[in-house]
Amino acid sequence: MDIKSVALLHPGNMGATIGAAAATSGARVIWASQGRSKTTQERARQAGLVDVETLTDAVRESDVILSVCPPHAALDLARTVAEHRFKGVYVDANAISRTTAKQIGETVSQAGATFVDGGIIGSPVKRAGTTRLYLSGSRAPDVAELFTASMLDAKTIGAEPGAASALKVAYAAWTKCTDALLLAIRTFAAVEGVDKALLQEWTISQPDLERRSNQAAAVAAPKAWRYVGEMEEIAATFQAAGLPAGFHSAAAEVCARLAPFKDQTEPAPAIAAVIDTLRVNGKQR
Ligand SMILES: NC(=O)c1ccc[n+]([C@@H]2O[C@H](COP(=O)([O-])OP(=O)(O)OC[C@H]3O[C@@H](n4cnc5c(N)ncnc54)[C@H](OP(=O)(O)O)[C@@H]3O)[C@@H](O)[C@H]2O)c1
Repeated sequence: MDIKSVALLHPGNMGATIGAAAATSGARVIWASQGRSKTTQERARQAGLVDVETLTDAVRESDVILSVCPPHAALDLARTVAEHRFKGVYVDANAISRTTAKQIGETVSQAGATFVDGGIIGSPVKRAGTTRLYLSGSRAPDVAELFTASMLDAKTIGAEPGAASALKVAYAAWTKCTDALLLAIRTFAAVEGVDKALLQEWTISQPDLERRSNQAAAVAAPKAWRYVGEMEEIAATFQAAGLPAGFHSAAAEVCARLAPFKDQTEPAPAIAAVIDTLRVNGKQR
């Protein structure tokens, strides 16, 4: 397939780098600035994406649309694109459940588009070997080809949409839920006054957990506001698969309590501040 133009909706921390990666194919990568923040505009500029201003123009001018937005906005974005009667290839690369992926697939297919389901694992694409984009759907190989010359590793994992979202769910079900669990455990130990004793015991028998819990505070707490929707999606996915939803519903609640650390990276949140916030927010409930 000859892909001349790709729309990236919208250039977030991850999305801007995916757009830049797609541009290595020679395709024109466009985006729509209307309604987007200054931060997004600056990221898009740095990534070299072409601003066509409105979503209407982005839809009209593109062969492929890459949806990389907050998971809770993914379905609404697909509905808006479908309202504009998009007939190209619509890729949803967000951390959503298989059920939401199916709804998005139905929404865009009814308008005449071909749906490709995607899931991103790793960090924004700045070095080779750090980021995978898993794709499933009949046109997944065409989408993967966009990234052949880039630092993004695009992998096709099936002809049926859904597999890529399921893989992302399985992966994040462990990484993000265990971050939330470790922070809840550190808070519990502090509430009970056994935090020092727990750290001493961990040093003997679970030597990696103190480092992991400190890292969860520093790295995961600033992003936790975005994980709420993702944890809820995973809980729903587990339930639909006949498994308990409780692990990830609880992780969603822990992430929601970490909202005061939204996007705080300098200085990164210290474990003591995270424990205090989880305690205080717990008492207020
Ligand atoms: N960041 C990572 O390391 C990472 C890793 C793996 C997977 N992912 C996945 O990639 C996706 C996007 O992540 P990201 O890091 O690029 O997010 P992000 O930095 O938070 O950026 C989100 C982008 O979407 C826009 N946006 C915000 N609210 C919106 C809404 N209600 N409707 C439509 N667009 C909206 C934002 O624009 P404004 O600036 O105007 O708000 C911004 O351009 C998510 O599904 C995430 O799970 C990210």
